[in-house]
Amino acid sequence: MKVYILFVLLFSSLIIGINAEAEKCENYFNVSTCSECQKELWDTWANPSSCGFFINLIKNIIKDYGYAVRHTQLTPYNFTPYDEAVKETCDERFSCTYDEAESSAKRVEEKCSNELSTKVDWSADPLTLNRTVTSAYGTVISFYFGIPDHDVMCFKSSSGDLCGIELTKPLINWLKENIPDGKFRISYDHKFVYKEDGSRLEIPRGIFFCGECQERVVKTFKYWPVNHPLPDYIVKNVYGSWEEEVNNFPNCPNNNSTTKHRRTLNRFSRRKIN
Ligand SMILES: *[C@@H]1O[C@H](CO)[C@@H](O)[C@H](O)[C@H]1NC(C)=O
Ligand SMILES: *[C@@H]1O[C@H](CO)[C@@H](O)[C@H](O)[C@H]1NC(C)=O
Ligand SMILES: *[C@@H]1O[C@H](CO)[C@@H](O)[C@H](O)[C@H]1NC(C)=O
Ligand SMILES: *[C@@H]1O[C@H](CO)[C@@H](O)[C@H](O)[C@H]1NC(C)=O
Repeated sequence: MKVYILFVLLFSSLIIGINAEAEKCENYFNVSTCSECQKELWDTWANPSSCGFFINLIKNIIKDYGYAVRHTQLTPYNFTPYDEAVKETCDERFSCTYDEAESSAKRVEEKCSNELSTKVDWSADPLTLNRTVTSAYGTVISFYFGIPDHDVMCFKSSSGDLCGIELTKPLINWLKENIPDGKFRISYDHKFVYKEDGSRLEIPRGIFFCGECQERVVKTFKYWPVNHPLPDYIVKNVYGSWEEEVNNFPNCPNNNSTTKHRRTLNRFSRRKIN
């Protein structure tokens, strides 16, 4: 579900992508010759237009972490480079129409039709998943949701921080407590966090749904796919259990707003997704 996917690219990039300041397509995908799809992805990342908001964010994350690693001792749970990357990306000019975003996504869909028809266990340890396949999904999703991603991540919350930063705080606090060594990999659906030894913990769902920015996420994405329907293969292969996800929203402590969202989302998903 989208609200989970929001973090995906982000944290997987921190973990998997960081050591991938690869200069070549072949290095990044660890192959002797890049396939058509891999080439298309690589070229798309080089110049994604502002529609690919997450792609631009990830590029800044990789750059800023790369810089930090070279110039300081980067300790576990130092998210300063991430925070900087969010600010930087939000400062960049954003100009995107849905038609532009869609045509960028379609170019990738054309070259990566094999990858994008592959079923993926989004709860699995990201390290065990096929990087070409996850990169293809990540890239098309970042185009289809580029506009709402930007709207949410770059919204200034009442704490003064951008929601892109604010949204990660509860998760980071939970991780610090549960995995003090900071060596973790989050599953793409954000249900589990995998430790270095491959064992996993379930992430409490309230982390992703309760709070000011979280509410903005729900509000922003609620009607997005209604007005901009997603291709069937994405609904099927990525958001297949949308209805179930929505029905399992947790109750936020001392707050009644979740119930309200549950009702609106239910209405929406009955009408549109099923
Ligand atoms: C790259 O591919 C080779 C051979 O296919 C494999 O042995 C190696 O473990 C791979 N490296 C990484 C980092 O996945
Ligand atoms: C990853 O998926 C692609 C496309 O489906 C396939 O061609 C490739 O062999 C897979 N790579 C690995 C390492 O399984
Ligand atoms: C409760 O809801 C209010 C208003 O919708 C929101 O501003 C606040 O952040 C929420 N609090 C929690 C703990 O979720
Ligand atoms: C939540 O709703 C219940 C009953 O509808 C009400 O008694 C309670 O005061 C509400 N709590 C908040 C924080 O609004």
